[in-house]
Amino acid sequence: MSKDSISIGYNAKELKLPLLRGTLGTPTVDIGKLNKKLGIFTYDPGFVSTASCKSDITFIDGEKGVLLYRGYPIEQLAKQSTFLEVSYLLMNGELPDEKRLSIFTNDLSHHTILHESLSGFFSGFHYDAHPMAMMVGVVGSLSAFYHSQLDMNDPEHRRISAMRLLAKIPTIAAACYRHSVGLPQVYPRLDLGYCENFLNMMFSRPGQTYTEQNDYIDPVTVEALNLLFILHADHEQNASTSTVRLAGSTGANPYACIAAGISALWGPAHGGANEAVLKMLVEIGTVDNIPKYLAKAKDKNDPFRLMGFGHRVYKNFDPRATITRDTCHAVLERFPSDDPLFELALALEEHALKDDYFIEKKLYPNIDFYSGIIYRALKIPENMFTVMFVIARTAGWVSHWLEMMDEPTHRISRPRQLYTGYDQRDYPTKNA
Ligand code: SDX
Repeated sequence: MSKDSISIGYNAKELKLPLLRGTLGTPTVDIGKLNKKLGIFTYDPGFVSTASCKSDITFIDGEKGVLLYRGYPIEQLAKQSTFLEVSYLLMNGELPDEKRLSIFTNDLSHHTILHESLSGFFSGFHYDAHPMAMMVGVVGSLSAFYHSQLDMNDPEHRRISAMRLLAKIPTIAAACYRHSVGLPQVYPRLDLGYCENFLNMMFSRPGQTYTEQNDYIDPVTVEALNLLFILHADHEQNASTSTVRLAGSTGANPYACIAAGISALWGPAHGGANEAVLKMLVEIGTVDNIPKYLAKAKDKNDPFRLMGFGHRVYKNFDPRATITRDTCHAVLERFPSDDPLFELALALEEHALKDDYFIEKKLYPNIDFYSGIIYRALKIPENMFTVMFVIARTAGWVSHWLEMMDEPTHRISRPRQLYTGYDQRDYPTKNA
């Protein structure tokens, strides 16, 4: 990492701040000594200009629409790899050879099963509990099962925790869905691939034969899931990954850290957007209503925003959206549907892309504009869309947690503030 510096002066003192340059990307001023030397803080709500850590995992160039996992372009990974290869890559830094992938896959499949006592947790939830609420609770409670045997200072213990999370989250996700429709949980099958096993745990019915299962373990469905999982696997320091790192910086149990990440992902400004897109389309209702809703989205006094549009980092296009847009068309061709929401989504996209407000503010469809539409075509229930994002993003969360915990000098994350409350004042004297 090459070093340079910039100077800053305050109160007749001058300080040289190192300018750090990573392999790629924006030069970054190291302000770590600013408070100690000059007695000032920096103010950056929303972390618009602040790098919270160093990382080797993922690189984004938002202007050029570039996304690299460990240096590999997302387009190449999407075309040639599988979600498990990508998970290995994110966690370990290199693509696995055949032998390593087979050990990784085998290791993962042996961690897919849930402790019977954990399976019992679901009965405590009401039938209409949102699956994301169940995910937060059940993933967090994995910490109750694995806390006492966990030595956080042992890299092998940390690796096993990461593997357990990646393996068990699809099982928990499917169990959340089964609980919500009153069906019994389905045990994971070690003979099925990652996506096939998930589809089987979601949709199989008691007494069904394997041939009958073919309609939901369909190759196009498996391919589309694998692709969406790759595209959602990591995205550098997004809100949920930053939450995992923040929780992890305190030395908290990894299962509790991932539950914190799931909570952060649930919001409609983040991973909850894919479910929100579908709700928005239902609200818009017909193509004729699009101009009215575009006007609402542009109105500062109206809280309505176009879900699935805009991104903090991408200002020209989201490369994942380009890929999902094509997949969306392929899936709709494979599963022809007269669902009016698909036509409405395409018309909304067309109108927004021609609208001056969206052009000027560089607001384009992001990955989650299309992911919800694809999941709907694959018959994944709407309240499971963000859970699908959780399954994929677990690969990124555990990779960032491992990276942070491997750093010998990582410190607790503790931002400062600009206090705007009362000056000191006296407690009112009470009447005797
Ligand atoms: C994900 O960070 C990641 O990497 C996230 C993610 C990942 O993989 O982890 O990519 C996944 O979270 C995708 C984003 C999903 N969210 C949505 O689709 C929800 C709708 N989008 C927005 O709420 C919003 O665009 C965000 C949250 C995505 C980005 O917020 P920013 O960076 O804070 O943008 P902003 O609010 O500063 O917007 C700039 C301007 C504002 O207008 P002005 O104040 O300049 O006049 O654009 C307007 C905003 O009001 N604007 C929108 C809009 N998004 C931004 N106006 C209408 N509709 C929108 N969707």
